[in-house]
Order: sequence, then C-alpha cells, then structure tokens
Amino acid sequence: MAQETDGCLGSKVTELPLQATDSCTNILTKEEKEKLKNDRVLVSEFKQQKLEVDAQKNWDLFYKRNSTHFYKDRHWTTREFEELQAHREFEAQKLLMLEAGCGVGNCLFPLMEEDLNIFIYACDFSPRAVRFVKENSLYCPERCLAFQCDLTKDDLRATISENSLDVATLIFVLSAIHPDRMQLAVENVYRVLKPGGIVLFRDYGLYDHAMLRFKSGSKLGENFYVRQDGTRSFFFSREYLANLFQQAGFHTLVNEYVLRETVNKKEGLCVPRVFLQSKFRKPE
Ligand SMILES: C[S@@+](CC[C@H](N)C(=O)[O-])C[C@H]1O[C@@H](n2cnc3c(N)ncnc32)[C@H](O)[C@@H]1O
Repeated sequence: MAQETDGCLGSKVTELPLQATDSCTNILTKEEKEKLKNDRVLVSEFKQQKLEVDAQKNWDLFYKRNSTHFYKDRHWTTREFEELQAHREFEAQKLLMLEAGCGVGNCLFPLMEEDLNIFIYACDFSPRAVRFVKENSLYCPERCLAFQCDLTKDDLRATISENSLDVATLIFVLSAIHPDRMQLAVENVYRVLKPGGIVLFRDYGLYDHAMLRFKSGSKLGENFYVRQDGTRSFFFSREYLANLFQQAGFHTLVNEYVLRETVNKKEGLCVPRVFLQSKFRKPE
C-alpha cells in the first residue's frame, strides 16, 4: 500500500495550495486533539533500538518493494525555491548543490532538466536508491554524482570539499532520521556549504494528516512514529526545526507551515496536509 507522504504515487490527487502560516494548531478538530492527547503508549525500548539499527535496511527494502514508482517527480523544487536561481552572483555561474537523502532522484532529475548550469551531488544511505539514480537515463557524470552516505555517520567531506556548496536540499529526509541524530545530519551539511550557502528544507509539519492516521502502537516519542514497514517519520514544529539549525550555526531566513488540501475526487476525500518549508543560511 502506498505510504502517506507528500507527492507519492498511488492515487490521483490534486493539491490545492491554501496558505502559508505561522501556526498549525487550528486545523485540528476537537476529536483529533483528543486522539493525539490520548495516544501515550510508546513502542518498547527494545523495538525502538532495533528500528534504529535497521533504519538503512528498512529504507533499502522500501526501494526493493517500490522500485522507482513511489514518489512523483518534484517539479516544484525550482518553482518554490527561487533561491536556486537567485543565488547566482552572475548569470553563467555554475551552481554546486547537494541533494541530501535523494531517494531515487525525484528532485534531482527535474532540477537537472530545468537548470542546465548546475552540478548536483546526490546522496542517500540506501544502496538500492543510489543504484536507481545511477541507472536513470538522465544520470550524467558530468552533471551529477550520486553516492551512498549515512548523513548521521559518514562525513560528507569524504566526497565534497569543505565550504564548497551554494545550496543543499533536505526534502522529506530529516523526518526519517531519529530526532537524537538529526543534529549530526544538519552539522554534516553545514560543513560542506560555503559561507553564505543555503539549505532548502521541506518536510512534514506538525499535525499533518499523516500524523493523525497513525494507529496506537506506532508512537516512538513526541511527534515521532513508525510505519508498518519499519520506516519512521517525525513531524516538525517551526520552533523545533529553527532550534536544530540555529544550534548548528545557521541563520533562519524563512520557516513557515504550508497548508495544502489533497483532493482525491474519485474517492470523495479531501484531507488537510501540513508541510514545513524553510530556508537557512550559513553565515558569511
Ligand atoms: C521520504 S524519502 C524522500 C526521498 C527524496 N528526498 C524525495 O523527496 O523523493 C526519505 C529518504 O531519506 C533517506 N534517508 C533516511 N535516513 C537517512 C540517513 N541517515 N542518511 C541518508 N539518507 C537517509 C531514505 O533512504 C529515503 O530515500
């Protein structure tokens, strides 16, 4: 079954932009607030430790099951993040970018098609995902380099020069990492960005519909849940995310909830989605 996530394939959905906002609590009904409040039982410590040990394996199995057919191409990256274009000091400047946690390249390839003057490093800790990226007919060693890397363990500087990147994207990746280890991933990205370089972030926001759908017995901690397939998902508040990046040394440029309605006309369903979209800058 298709996992609930932004831009997954599986049902015909239309996304209607609603508004950008600095609060997301009002979207909950009284029943939904009660449900979240009453969901207090956490998955056992033993099982939680196993999920952490198996995190890479579980994502690799995810790509074994779903191949490249799970997520839609994310064409909104350039649209939503005009920073990618604006960050150039002169028009012909080649942008150096990292897509951290690239999956099978649903951001990478649309970006490469839309912007010819860009070199993209793309990494993921799932060897299978990296293989899918390299096997894509659009993969081109002159314009991109895909490599395996656990953002919380492997120093990105083994592949990318320190202080070299203009932009790094973290698209629905930090939510898959244990909250205790997110800081390590953010610091890892910080080191390879050049001073003035920017992180573009988009991920699940607090009280997103996906969070409300978790059944009891799926809770790992505050705003942190496990799916049936063992992959995990965190739901970010603005404050939590800002703190994470500021602690690593970043300045916050933008940090706001984006509300969407996902409409499935065939099934007569309309569900509210909450994403957090942010930009952080490494100081000059
Ligand atoms: C929800 S998917 C998003 C994939 C892609 N960014 C996209 O938007 O289509 C999360 C991705 O993060 C990767 N991931 C999770 N933890 C990671 C880690 N510690 N280091 C590197 N990649 C990780 C997973 O393998 C998976 O490909």
